[in-house]
Amino acid sequence: MQVPFLDLKAQYLSIKDEIQAALNKVLDQTAFAGGPFVAQFEKEFAEFCQVEHCVGVGSGTDALWLALLALGVGPGDEVITVPDTFIATAEAISYCGATPVFVDVDEKTYNMDPNKLEECIKTHNSKLKTQNSLKAIIPVHLFGQTADMDPILEIAKKYGLSVVEDACQAHGALYKGKPAGSIGAAGCFSFYPGKNLGAYGEAGAVTTNNAELASKMRMIRDHGQEKKYYHGCIGWNARMDGFQGAVLNVKLKHLRAWNEARRTNAAKYNALLDDADGIITPQEMDYAKHVYHIYAIRTKNRDELILRLGEKGVNCGIHYPVPVHLQNAYASLGLKPGSFPVAEKVASEFVSLPMFAELTEEQIRYTADMVKTLALKS
Ligand SMILES: Cc1ncc(COP(=O)(O)O)c(C=O)c1O
Repeated sequence: MQVPFLDLKAQYLSIKDEIQAALNKVLDQTAFAGGPFVAQFEKEFAEFCQVEHCVGVGSGTDALWLALLALGVGPGDEVITVPDTFIATAEAISYCGATPVFVDVDEKTYNMDPNKLEECIKTHNSKLKTQNSLKAIIPVHLFGQTADMDPILEIAKKYGLSVVEDACQAHGALYKGKPAGSIGAAGCFSFYPGKNLGAYGEAGAVTTNNAELASKMRMIRDHGQEKKYYHGCIGWNARMDGFQGAVLNVKLKHLRAWNEARRTNAAKYNALLDDADGIITPQEMDYAKHVYHIYAIRTKNRDELILRLGEKGVNCGIHYPVPVHLQNAYASLGLKPGSFPVAEKVASEFVSLPMFAELTEEQIRYTADMVKTLALKS
């Protein structure tokens, strides 16, 4: 049997007519850059996230970058985030001219450990002449489960820091009933094709309840324009294109059902792998509704397991093999192995199993059987 890691075609075929009709409308109206389809999506995604504003942009990386810029993060500033994330979280900080400061993750959730956050801020501040350079915190809702936001927000408030949610993997996830993207000053989403809500190209969005922040981001994404050819600030081209807006409008209507299907699939994996020796399955916390963008197990013999699963037709991934502080791109920070022991440990054990809404019962059973047979017993 073949089990793909992700099957974008299966999803496309299930909504083909709707998608083609939507794309034809964009063609008919030649609404290629920004325009009514993007505006409609912004309105609907803001409603979905229960926020006042949504600003459609070119990618999740743009979303993070624009949110930080609009919050005033710039050269000489520092922004706290986690090492176990896609590098874009840190890149957005760097592209503001700021420096990422990492805090370790929790071993159960793989998200920012709130218990280590305050310690990180205190240590950091004690090394600085002023306490002004820390500006923001970016908790990442890794794999589709939100970080434990209440203690993070409380600490942020105490130290006067803004919180930007990296919700790029968490469309529709909930924290104590609140949608991801509605909790911090801003929520940043990626609609990269493989995401729970994926465009048919590159796209992203920022959600916020802050009208001023939303209007700054709208300006920055469009060359700082206040009106056509009048530029109030130096911006960039970070607009969402019309085709992506139209595709996302169609797909947003299906997102709740697709997320439920992912949750059902995760529950099946959990039940089948429950007694598997040497395997740690993901945990859904009491405060969270997990949307399983990634279903990651942990095991000691990860590389060999992935290789052997591949030979049996089960295609897996690793998210992510090298924590950001140990990437060559960030060598200048001088952080060595051992700096963030939990992040490093879990990154060396993660195996992402096939996960998408259309996964069949047979594929799930086969994958779980193969994992049990091929994993090293503890
Ligand atoms: C946690 C996280 N942050 C940021 C991004 C960047 O999003 P994009 O690829 O749309 O720029 C991604 C996407 O992979 C992500 O998973």
